[in-house]
Amino acid sequence: MPNSIEVTACEPSQLGAVEFNAFLRFVQEGGEVTAVGLEQRIRNAAVLIRAERQGTLAGVGAIKAPNKAYRDSIFAKAESPHAAADFERELGWFFVSSECRGLGISKLLVAKAIGCLGQTRVYATSRADNAPMHRSLASAGFESSGRDFLSDDKKRRLRLFCR
Ligand SMILES: CC(C)(COP(=O)(O)OP(=O)(O)OC[C@H]1O[C@@H](n2cnc3c(N)ncnc32)[C@H](O)[C@@H]1OP(=O)(O)O)[C@@H](O)C(=O)NCCC(=O)NCCS
Repeated sequence: MPNSIEVTACEPSQLGAVEFNAFLRFVQEGGEVTAVGLEQRIRNAAVLIRAERQGTLAGVGAIKAPNKAYRDSIFAKAESPHAAADFERELGWFFVSSECRGLGISKLLVAKAIGCLGQTRVYATSRADNAPMHRSLASAGFESSGRDFLSDDKKRRLRLFCR
């Protein structure tokens, strides 16, 4: 099937060096991440999700295990009515290569992550104007929570989504 898309999930340690570096490059291309310590943060993720199209990396995402202070700060900034402590996992680092956008790959990545999480509660943040990401999260049962808030570098407005 020429256009078949395969989505897989694995622990960071399961990726070889070439695959790991390709994942890292995709996350970097997505921007909106702090470059310092990114490689180690990816190694500390719970699960890495990868989509391949015709055998080539087309999109990535991850299930992260955020520390308590960070998680608490997100829920506080969003003034979310949810208890941050109920959400031990965060989805993030979604990026789909420009030539593969609009094919439903981000939805497949989110769905794969949810399949790995089962009933574990999870949150995600997204730029407040990132309509495709909002739709992908909504398709997996995420709902926005609280109010939009400014990123730490004050460059973007962010929205909290919970599931
Ligand atoms: C955001 C991103 C991951 C979306 O990936 P994608 O694979 O192209 O998205 P999909 O094809 O799965 O589309 C998801 C939904 O958004 C819709 N959509 C796609 N482009 C859209 C647009 N420009 N405006 C509004 N909706 C759009 C799709 O129709 C689909 O919704 P539907 O199935 O309900 O119709 C991709 O654009 C990207 O990598 N952007 C740069 C990095 C980024 O913003 N990452 C998110 C960080 S939280």
